[in-house]
Amino acid sequence: MSDIKILGIESSCDETAASVVLNGREVLSNIISSQIDIHTLYGGVVPEIASRKHMERIDRVVDKALKEASLDIKDIDAIAVTYGPGLVGALLVGVSYAKSYAWALNKPLVGVHHIKGHICANYIENKDLKPPFMCLVVSGGHTHLVRVADYGEYEVLGRTRDDAAGEAFDKVARVIGLGYPGGPKIDKVSYEGDPAAIDFPRAKIADNEYDFSFSGLKSAVLNYLNSLQMKGLSYEQADVAASFQQAVVDVLVGHSMAAIDEYGVKDFAIAGGVASNSHLRTAMKAACEEKGINFYMPSPIYCTDNAAMIAVAGYHEFMAGNTADLSLNAVPALKLE
Ligand code: KG4
Ligand code: ZN
Repeated sequence: MSDIKILGIESSCDETAASVVLNGREVLSNIISSQIDIHTLYGGVVPEIASRKHMERIDRVVDKALKEASLDIKDIDAIAVTYGPGLVGALLVGVSYAKSYAWALNKPLVGVHHIKGHICANYIENKDLKPPFMCLVVSGGHTHLVRVADYGEYEVLGRTRDDAAGEAFDKVARVIGLGYPGGPKIDKVSYEGDPAAIDFPRAKIADNEYDFSFSGLKSAVLNYLNSLQMKGLSYEQADVAASFQQAVVDVLVGHSMAAIDEYGVKDFAIAGGVASNSHLRTAMKAACEEKGINFYMPSPIYCTDNAAMIAVAGYHEFMAGNTADLSLNAVPALKLE
């Protein structure tokens, strides 16, 4: 078969992104227009502002992605777009744009699940990675332990019962005065703190050992800060950050290793914004090495939201014949089957 070029479009949260990927592995362009500066002013993503910014930027972002790939839109085989999960107004911008483009140019349209996109980011730099493998997806909205049986076949073994891992990072960062975006700031400041300074809880779920819960940990951090405040004592920001992060990393590594043991997998990958956390990357790599498991992780730029991962996931949907028609709509709470 000839080369397949997919244009990927991503606008589910606060990144407006477009990318062209060749044959589901080779990134020809990867344009990301981040809105972090604007949302930082409000301490988190403001959905209405995110949608408006996507509207302002999407045209130029897509043009730039095609230009950098030295391609004309006519050379593209299909247009892949994130249709969920995410912020409805933000998703609608990408979906409407992709639908208009596909209709005007008579190109196939592919709807992509954002979480599948995160998982597929692993195929970009790890040319030898193929299903079956296991993947931990940790992002701002999701924490999923997934068995990837085939390119289009996903089985969720565990998920969070409350907050997502990234959400916990962002909330704790806010209460200890680090601000938004919390994950990268906690990652950095933790190098100056002691991860064993405070013994925060590592939650276990009784009826599914692969499910996660981070709300108790978040409350434990709040209680710790309040109890010191009531005594008129101050806290060590770096110690709280490092100890909180260690609790998250321990749970993520612990659940992953238990699933690896039970399912006897040989290949393990991480994905999503929190997968760019340097401490998690080091700990997970060491734990996999100890078990003799092949460990995969995307570069940080492919962990946080991007459209290259959407083009890769779109490639596999397209090859499987899963194209969408113009009734494609945004699905904010789209489930991973
Ligand atoms: O995957 P992503 O870009 O967007 C979603 O799909 O949610 O993930 C964003 C999340 C945010 O919660 C952010 O704080 C977190 O990923 N994150 C990190 C790091 N970089 C981003 N968390 C921990 N350490 C990091 N270095
Ligand atoms: Zn994401």
